[in-house]
Amino acid sequence: DWTMAEYRQQAIKAIRDQVGDKKVICGLSGGVDSSVAAVLIHEAIGDQLTCIYVDHGLMRMGETEQVLSMFRDHYNIPLVHVDASDLFIGQLEGESDPEVKRKTIGKLFIEVFEDEAKKLGGADFLAQGTLYPDVIESVSFTGGPSVTIKSHHNVGGLPERMNMQLVEPLRELFKDEVRDLGRELGLPDSFIGRHPFPGPGLAIRCPGGITREKLDILRQADAIYLDEIRKAGLYDAIWQAFAVLLPVQTVGVMGDGRTYEFVCALRAVTSVDGMTADFYHYDMEFLGRAATRIINEVRGINRVVYDVTSKPPGTIEWE
Ligand code: XMP
Repeated sequence: DWTMAEYRQQAIKAIRDQVGDKKVICGLSGGVDSSVAAVLIHEAIGDQLTCIYVDHGLMRMGETEQVLSMFRDHYNIPLVHVDASDLFIGQLEGESDPEVKRKTIGKLFIEVFEDEAKKLGGADFLAQGTLYPDVIESVSFTGGPSVTIKSHHNVGGLPERMNMQLVEPLRELFKDEVRDLGRELGLPDSFIGRHPFPGPGLAIRCPGGITREKLDILRQADAIYLDEIRKAGLYDAIWQAFAVLLPVQTVGVMGDGRTYEFVCALRAVTSVDGMTADFYHYDMEFLGRAATRIINEVRGINRVVYDVTSKPPGTIEWE
């Protein structure tokens, strides 16, 4: 029987014991886990910690700015922002294979991170926001068939390559406990309650070849969709909601002209852990409102559809 306030104190002590006066580097993804880990470690060892935020240019609207301002201005945590969007998008341009997208992003991420860590003069420790379920999932079974549905991108392999030890202060926690700890550490509720976002970002919500233009269209549609969800008070009832830009153009009419533009699919699911999920049952008024706004406000989209597939048999993401 322990409280988060106690956990916080114990974790701080454990981090100090492990790290001593050595340097720690933490990769910030913009997500809750790495953020909570960073804030906790900063509380324990202050400026011995430096965070690196590799900006792959595949974030949602305004997200990078929010992360940067929260860490730099609010928490005063030393943070290196690497704008690598040209590199990432340059290499992804035209790529349509989901696994190649993930592998390319994972590989570039490690390269950029490694370069920046070297510029900082290296470190003895690498901090990660690994959770208890990640620990269990990465235990390998022998004997049974192993099927990879999607290779999730993370910074695996980096610690060995760079000869660093891991600091993983969230290893014993489940997601909801990490959120409690985040609140205990004073992270804003709006941040803690954010929907999960995949490491490869918008790249896997843009089936077909990726282009800057498509990413831009998708980012706008996604922002409007999420804005409508928040306005309707539905954000917290949904596990994940996002727009997908389909590589399909359809005919429409606008004024007295014919249009020929992309289709946008909207996705929303409820889930406990992301392993299974049900599609969210909106009322049609809501969907109509969101669709009308997207079509009116985003150039390049003239049709919106809603995904009513649950998991299984679908996955949450489209790729
Ligand atoms: P799926 O699409 O597999 O998604 O049903 C389950 C959860 O995992 C997230 N997801 C990813 N997260 N890298 C990540 O960090 C990935 O490559 C990736 N693919 C899916 C997805 O957003 C959902 O929360």
